[in-house]
Amino acid sequence: MTSSACAAQAFCRDAALADMEACADIFNRWVDATAWMPRVHPADDVVRHYRESVFANGPVIVADCRGEIAGFLALSADGFVTALYLDERHRRVGIGTALLHEAKKRATGELRLWTFEHNRGAQRFYEREGFVPVRRTGGENEEKLPDILYHWRVEPLSGREA
Ligand SMILES: CC(C)(COP(=O)(O)OP(=O)(O)OC[C@H]1O[C@@H](n2cnc3c(N)ncnc32)[C@H](O)[C@@H]1OP(=O)(O)O)[C@@H](O)C(=O)NCCC(=O)NCCS
Repeated sequence: MTSSACAAQAFCRDAALADMEACADIFNRWVDATAWMPRVHPADDVVRHYRESVFANGPVIVADCRGEIAGFLALSADGFVTALYLDERHRRVGIGTALLHEAKKRATGELRLWTFEHNRGAQRFYEREGFVPVRRTGGENEEKLPDILYHWRVEPLSGREA
């Protein structure tokens, strides 16, 4: 199936533990394919981290395309998007936007996330989605890469609509 056909048929749902390896694999493939991204944890440790932490703490939302996981988004209890990764074959057809809209619906009015300064594509995507950069660090993270904290707040209703 082409990626755009998949986008038309993909739907967002809560992840089950059975989706965990597919999500960890999407992340591991992104690390291996991204020249500026160091691998700080072996692929097997990433799978363990997804099982014991990301999926245990949840929620994780997956984009399911007829049983194939096209991408996923992980949320923390304190309103952070802790992961948003699409399989390379399914990027730029609207699936990331659909996952983020689902997260916005579940949020209590605001969301935060960190992205690396190198990740210009992600910055364009988040800014188009109404996120604004609120803080920058020189690399206070495991990867030791400069990063940016983004914040999104739901638009207040205007006087006439309220
Ligand atoms: C960033 C990501 C989540 C966006 O999801 P997506 O499904 O590809 O994006 P959508 O199709 O919903 O939205 C696309 C829009 O976002 C912006 N955008 C998304 N990726 C972009 C990129 N690499 N470069 C420039 N703009 C980008 C564009 O405005 C684009 O619109 P266009 O295709 O009409 O130009 C996805 O591309 C991805 O998984 N990238 C690799 C992993 C990653 O960087 N994750 C973010 C970690 S913080």
